[in-house]
Amino acid sequence: MATTKKSKSQESMTLHDLLITKMQSLYDVEHEITKALPKMAKAASDAELKSGFEEHLEQTKGQIERLEKAFELLNEKPKKLKSEAIRGLIADGEWVIKNVEGSEALDANLIAAAQYVEHYEIAGYGSAVEWAREMGHTEVADLLEETLEEEEATDEKLNELATSGVNERANDMDEEDEETKLM
Ligand SMILES: [Fe+2]
Repeated sequence: MATTKKSKSQESMTLHDLLITKMQSLYDVEHEITKALPKMAKAASDAELKSGFEEHLEQTKGQIERLEKAFELLNEKPKKLKSEAIRGLIADGEWVIKNVEGSEALDANLIAAAQYVEHYEIAGYGSAVEWAREMGHTEVADLLEETLEEEEATDEKLNELATSGVNERANDMDEEDEETKLM
């Protein structure tokens, strides 16, 4: 294949394409998450964790609208690009729901599964924000950054929940089990 030197406009088109592709993937990701969150909320025992998942569902619907606005600003129709990665992460979460026994252990694992998803989203939005800024799409970058901040706050909330009792209770249950076995 013959290689030709890319002109400046072709390079910026490539970055533009990358941004659109990333946004299409995130659009698919957010839709998949809206399907997964009700199952996570249903499986959670800790009241705060349950309501956290429910709140994040509402937030995710807003994130979908924000992406639609961003597409509009770029004169693009909102379109989904299938993300195999989010399907894998959600499948891991479903495995947890099916296989982890004991509500304390399940809550600790649900937090871990949700954090995988949040970190994946943070990485995706992080790139998209940078690319949009690089190309001078300030409004788009600001919209995507709002979502990025929500994902970071959600991750932080999950951390707080884990360290404020959920992990400890999961560990206490382990110890109680050990004690029963020893008796
Ligand atoms: Fe999200």
